[in-house]
Amino acid sequence: MANTDLSNPQNVPGPVFVDTTCIDCGTCYHLASEVFEEKEGASRVMKQPQGEEWGGVKRAIVSCPTNSIGLQEKSQDFVNAALDLPLIINENVSYCGYTSKDSFGATSYLIEHPEGNILIDSPRFHPQLVKALEERGGVSLMILTHQDDVADHQKFHDHFGCRRIIHRDEVRTSTKDVELIWEGSEDLEIFKDLKLILTPGHTKGHLCVLYKDLYLFTGDHLFVNEEEQMLEASKGVCWYSWKEQVKSIEKLLHYDFEWVMPGHGGWGHFGVSSLEKVSELVERIRLS
Ligand code: SF4
Ligand SMILES: [Fe+2]
Repeated sequence: MANTDLSNPQNVPGPVFVDTTCIDCGTCYHLASEVFEEKEGASRVMKQPQGEEWGGVKRAIVSCPTNSIGLQEKSQDFVNAALDLPLIINENVSYCGYTSKDSFGATSYLIEHPEGNILIDSPRFHPQLVKALEERGGVSLMILTHQDDVADHQKFHDHFGCRRIIHRDEVRTSTKDVELIWEGSEDLEIFKDLKLILTPGHTKGHLCVLYKDLYLFTGDHLFVNEEEQMLEASKGVCWYSWKEQVKSIEKLLHYDFEWVMPGHGGWGHFGVSSLEKVSELVERIRLS
């Protein structure tokens, strides 16, 4: 639990606080941007919540990977905090919350698919989330975009019996027993409306997931800058090859999608402008 003795001195006074164990993963200031902000490499409470803003705060409390967000006085209300997670983003696509420290607070998503529910990357194996997933029909498949965001995949597999898929180049000790290891580089159609696209760069076997030609789940390949409404890629967290990553960004110009759902930070709905956003990013990289 968050520790009041470690409360960040930058918090504004009031019931909600962030402590100094924050790893600045960005989850809270995406979920409750009216309340939390990044300052000097950590999250702080910039304004105490009011009314509906409490919804985002509750989601942030249970989703913080390091339990760094707390309340000065515990409220009974928080026993049932954030029962709306996984939170529907659009249609049958939801945000899971409950991020894991093991994946630096990576975002995972749920697709309630007619062929069985799909988790994209792994949230924390938290009993409240597990119950919510059970109520929505369990999990049939986990798609792991790359080695960094696998977190509690084994626990989800053991509990739900779901198959898992990862690219061969991302397999590490903890994923060596994954059921489906993708060896190729051509797109892999899992279902008629869902395919995997190899996007090396951030890591060698990183993949993106394209669903219904509408939703592109980008792992750590692309991020959304919500303030500027543009796409970003990070050379600073490119572990394999920036040159390959740029090629993989250009490759996305050959697909259709309207939503960009990254592995960190917020998602974005760019509609028919999505490819323009990719082109703009390529241009910015070229000029940098
Ligand atoms: S969710 Fe937790 S770790 Fe992430 S930025 Fe907020 S307080 Fe820090
Ligand atoms: Fe990563």
